[in-house]
Amino acid sequence: MTARFPAYRPRRLRQASWIRSLIAETTLRPADFIWPIVVHDGQEDRIPVASMPGVERLSVRAVAEAARQARDLGIPCIALFPHIDGARKDAGGSAAFDSAGLVPDAIKAAKDAAPEVGVMCDVALDCFTNHGHDGLLEGGRIVNDATVEALVRQALIQAEAGADIVAPSDMMDGRVGAIRAGLEGAGHHDVMILAYAAKYASAFYGPYRDAVGSARALSGDKKTYQMDPANTDEALREVALDLAEGADMVMVKPGMPYLDIVRRVVERFAVPTFAYQVSGEYSMIRAAVANGWLDEERAILESLIAFKRAGCAGIVSYFAPQACRLLGA
Ligand code: PBG
Repeated sequence: MTARFPAYRPRRLRQASWIRSLIAETTLRPADFIWPIVVHDGQEDRIPVASMPGVERLSVRAVAEAARQARDLGIPCIALFPHIDGARKDAGGSAAFDSAGLVPDAIKAAKDAAPEVGVMCDVALDCFTNHGHDGLLEGGRIVNDATVEALVRQALIQAEAGADIVAPSDMMDGRVGAIRAGLEGAGHHDVMILAYAAKYASAFYGPYRDAVGSARALSGDKKTYQMDPANTDEALREVALDLAEGADMVMVKPGMPYLDIVRRVVERFAVPTFAYQVSGEYSMIRAAVANGWLDEERAILESLIAFKRAGCAGIVSYFAPQACRLLGA
């Protein structure tokens, strides 16, 4: 089509709200969200996270409430991230394999409170290790295959407790296939794998590491396992591998700075593709709003519909409950 002015006047279709909504190419709705929730093992129900205004660490009891809130708002799924007492962390992340630990407790509390809400769990050791890495350290290196074995154990504990989706966010090679085999072997045929397939070594995770208490612990960076922000073809190779190994869905992370990756993945693979609007993206918007530099409602909703426009099936976002309220849920 060679549309030419004045026969084609693009502004005709923008003249009133009713025609703008009639021709909107994408929509944002509560069903688009996965809501990440930080659960802690202390007694206090809600502890504010300083670097993420509006986000709180919840007790297991408060997680049950949050699950009911998700159901009432129409949010299909919550994602659990644990903040455990530093004294329980060790080099091997052993607390991750405790079937009576914080994550299994939180899964059960959420499923009891609102069985119709999906529960997703992060598979990675960073919340449990005293060095803050996602895997096992040997001689200053993160060892791949031993870590994969540990991740399989962790994923099985989560599935056993009732997790609907396990989401490996560790970026070890071969973990999706090993977790899939482990789940099948244990009879968990219906547990879904959402693979953090293209996860970048990003500065935007800063506030999250504060939220789960792994910031102070982290020695060095995660560049030997998370991807280089300079790369895009490599993301397609990662996605292809994870799908071949048995991933049901894939994730790109962070979100806003990586929407080009989302688009390429969606076009190439046509599988449900999610993106994670990570802690730093959340806090960036919150900070600008707090300073009066951005309009809160418009900035939040515009940041979120960008994911839909890029082709995401859904968005992991700390804004989920507020966005649902803004959308009238
Ligand atoms: C690690 C993990 C991270 C996040 C989720 N899982 C951080 C990291 O890789 O260091 C970040 C989430 C966020 O920033 O909101 N397993």
